[in-house]
Amino acid sequence: MKEIRIGLLGCGTVGTGAARILTEHADLIESRLGAGLTLKHVADIDTETDRGIRFGAGVFINDAWQVVDDPDIDIILEMIGGKTLARDLMMRAIENGKHVVTANKALLASHGNEILGAASRRGVEVAYEASVGGCMPIIKTLRESLVGNRISAMTGILNGTCNYILSRITDEGIAFETALAQAQAEGFAEADPSLDVDGLDTAHKLAILNALAYGMAINLDDIAVEGISSITPMDIAFARQFGYRIKLLAISKLREDAVEARIHPTMIPFSNPLSNVNANLNAVTVTGDAVGDVMLYGYGAGMLPTASAVVGDVVDIARNLLSNAAGRIPLFGCQPDRIRNISVMPLDEITMHYYIRFAAMDRPGVLSKISGILGNRGISIKSVQQKGRQSEGAVPIVMMTHQAREADVKAALSEISALDIVGVPPVLIRIEDENGDEES
Ligand code: HSE
Repeated sequence: MKEIRIGLLGCGTVGTGAARILTEHADLIESRLGAGLTLKHVADIDTETDRGIRFGAGVFINDAWQVVDDPDIDIILEMIGGKTLARDLMMRAIENGKHVVTANKALLASHGNEILGAASRRGVEVAYEASVGGCMPIIKTLRESLVGNRISAMTGILNGTCNYILSRITDEGIAFETALAQAQAEGFAEADPSLDVDGLDTAHKLAILNALAYGMAINLDDIAVEGISSITPMDIAFARQFGYRIKLLAISKLREDAVEARIHPTMIPFSNPLSNVNANLNAVTVTGDAVGDVMLYGYGAGMLPTASAVVGDVVDIARNLLSNAAGRIPLFGCQPDRIRNISVMPLDEITMHYYIRFAAMDRPGVLSKISGILGNRGISIKSVQQKGRQSEGAVPIVMMTHQAREADVKAALSEISALDIVGVPPVLIRIEDENGDEES
């Protein structure tokens, strides 16, 4: 029986999950692979905490460099996270001719082009299914299953923490901070949870998906990113009245010679299946010219769901090694010399529907002033709702617009904000609704 040896770097949430699956399902995996997978070393700075796994003598060590330099190891699992030590270790593993499995979306989104170059030169595989959408096989779907499609759009809920927070606020009315603390306790959130709530984690994932879907070089910097921290229970309640739920969406669409790519809280109608994706679940819809829409759904975070994707990658690489076919599939799906620099459209140029909430004085002429400024910028209002006066202060006025250009909406809002009839800055939430321009 052949044996493939693995070195695991980082025994935190996902690393522990991968070690558990590899240990507990060793026989099952061997029966499917036709070879044994041996966890030769597990390296972590904390070798004291009990992970609930019985490692053999000398397996658990605290020197990750010893693991990447071990000539017996075939596959390195980089489960450390972050962009410094993880990058150095990954590059050394690649130089040493080892195949790598990672869940590190931040590293791939920031240094994916460099990693691609190093891996192709050395003829090793870098597998990263766990980096996007936890257990959902979105990387395999884009890179292999949909290889015959021209992909035109992707829309996804790609951050379990944000989805968990928004779902719990929407369904149970709990406070943002309480929901975030629970997501942290459950192990979904990043070590620095601002990466989740500010949207950057979702942007990392979209940068990777864009590269796979459109054959473009990784481009993180031009993706417009807005997080969920400004979403209030009031806006969630208004959204519900209009037939929408608010989700943090990753949206990308292939335009003529550019890509529209953005992350922001988005109102989607109840009829959109993504509106029913709750808790720490993720989902993504991919539109291809042959398949139409394909939707994947599953746990996007958490120990075992994410580790399931890691182990899937290990077995893929092991199968390629056993059949001398390493490097069979290009890292980002496209032959490296055919990857293009496709630009990402500035958000200001994109046209969408908007929800805008003003806090304004309930006085004669206020609505006409606001709608006049919007009208002068070519922004057409689809519906307006004003709540009755509860006190002497400002009242909420909610407007839904027809299709409008982002730059025009922002310019109008800054003009309106300067009026003495408007209190706090207006709230703007973008809407994705295919039927948004139909008369309701
Ligand atoms: N913090 C991430 C999330 C983990 O909440 O989705 C999975 O990438």
